Amino acid sequence: MYDRFNRQIDYLRISVTDRCNLRCRYCMPEEGIQLLRHEDILSFDEIADFTRIAVKKGVSKVRITGGEPLVRKGIVTLVGMISGIDGIKDLSMTTNGVLLKNFSKDLKLAGLHRVNISLDTIDPARFEFITRGGKIDEVLEGINAAQKAGLSPVKINCVIKESKDEEDAIRVTDYCIKNDLEIRYIRQMDLVKGHFSTVEGGRGGNCILCNRLRLTANGKLRPCLFDNIEFDIREIGFEKALMMAVDLKPESGSNNITGEFYNIGG
Ligand code: 5AD
Ligand code: SF4
Repeated sequence: MYDRFNRQIDYLRISVTDRCNLRCRYCMPEEGIQLLRHEDILSFDEIADFTRIAVKKGVSKVRITGGEPLVRKGIVTLVGMISGIDGIKDLSMTTNGVLLKNFSKDLKLAGLHRVNISLDTIDPARFEFITRGGKIDEVLEGINAAQKAGLSPVKINCVIKESKDEEDAIRVTDYCIKNDLEIRYIRQMDLVKGHFSTVEGGRGGNCILCNRLRLTANGKLRPCLFDNIEFDIREIGFEKALMMAVDLKPESGSNNITGEFYNIGG
């Protein structure tokens, strides 16, 4: 699929839940989060059916995101359903890693290729602060489990304020070098002001190269993280929503006022 600006759209990011077992300060408010109603969340069959259509139309890369995807009940089954779709060359997941110790082997067996794990600091107290209560050991064990299970390459997403020379980022970089991990630095975005910026070492935020569509947990297809247009796949129909999202993908992002990251999956 090509959009109006001749970008080949071959990457689908699927948010499978808006729930998360952490509360990262830059992502979620501490409380009062308006969670989706369970009946609004796409079923496994709906996700798989939509993905099948997208793959038939040329999507070859699929990423499963959240919220935290591993808190969705039956996630291994869903990964198996998606990995069984013929034509997916790259099937990945973005996770906070907390549950990876339990899930890595099964995810690998279900056909997941690789994972990106969020890690902004390696200091236990700082981690607990940033995530409002997370235990870093669980994540470090999760990273290790993912590597052992062969979910390769394991990449680390490190959120930075301004630069990768900040104390936390330097130490995460060092940890990655020592542990054979690829690292990506993501500038912290102000979700209220709706700023956006590029991802160092990745394609995120680079509009000219943007090849993505995002499916939210409640079935809204969004062609751009930094634009509010979305197409409800249940209302419009799966294939038509897909065509509309590709045809109307904005040339570049402006901002995103209505969406939060835990809804649309980063
Ligand atoms: N700015 C930048 N990245 C964010 N993420 C969540 N909130 C923000 C934000 N405000 C990203 C983190 C995390 C992923 C799941 O979403 O990189 O690793
Ligand atoms: Fe959860 Fe990820 Fe948001 Fe942190 S950044 S609260 S781990 S969804």
